[in-house]
Amino acid sequence: MTEKRVAFVTGASRGIGAAIARRLAKDGLHVVAVARSADKLNAIVDEIKAEGGSAETATVDIADFKALADAIEKVTEAHGRLDVLVNNAGITKDGLLLRMDDEDWDSVIDTNLKSAFVAIRAAARPMMRIKGAVGGRIINISSVAGVAGNAGQANYSASKAGLIGLTKTVAKELAGKNITCNAIAPGFITTDMTDVLPEQIKEGVKNFVPLKRFGQPHEIAAAVAFLASPDASYVTGQVICVDGGMVM
Ligand code: NAI
Repeated sequence: MTEKRVAFVTGASRGIGAAIARRLAKDGLHVVAVARSADKLNAIVDEIKAEGGSAETATVDIADFKALADAIEKVTEAHGRLDVLVNNAGITKDGLLLRMDDEDWDSVIDTNLKSAFVAIRAAARPMMRIKGAVGGRIINISSVAGVAGNAGQANYSASKAGLIGLTKTVAKELAGKNITCNAIAPGFITTDMTDVLPEQIKEGVKNFVPLKRFGQPHEIAAAVAFLASPDASYVTGQVICVDGGMVM
């Protein structure tokens, strides 16, 4: 059995997921970095190893639910354990409600929400078997859009609000098994996902945020690191907004 605690982090090839993978590895966990293609993922894992951390890649499309569940089973078999699951990978397909087609609704709900359900279901049993004092930790990356809604993001907001409901239910169902489940709701974080937004929107957001700046991926990773750590042993079913005060 692998001695280090093992973390499965989806969407780890860039942005927030890459920052989470780096941070958890720095904190001494073995990280399984998950994304659809290997190129960028390999670079992240090489970087982690160069800094003395422990990591491996898993190329999985999380919207291929069987492949996702199989990947979690494979990791659990290979390491004899699974301690932390971070459901981070997510997509946007924005558009106003009246113009949003079914395909854009379904693909966002599947990728952002159903994948988390499938991953949690696959991870729950191995987490129940953890022997140490620090039990299983499930961390779902939601969004302020899931807390407060956002015009032009009916599909995305619904998926992220769904993650919050899922988080609270899983927290209640698995509390007796020493597994915690929490969500983080990032505000506006500088990544490829937000780079594509028009400058005018970015400026508007910046003015609206009490701390008057965008967040950085490592600031989300810090919250994940806390929730994954022994220090968070009495925290479950919570939504932590890491958003510069955007939603309060
Ligand atoms: P990003 O677009 O930069 O990275 C997303 C990651 O998910 C990439 O590694 C991508 O390869 C992976 N991914 C996407 N679809 C996948 C699939 N089907 N299978 C496997 N991997 C897949 O996004 P970013 O900004 O790093 O966001 C990460 C999470 O944080 C997402 O869930 C996003 O909704 C959430 N979030 C981001 C905010 C921001 O301002 N950047 C704000 C609130 C939430």
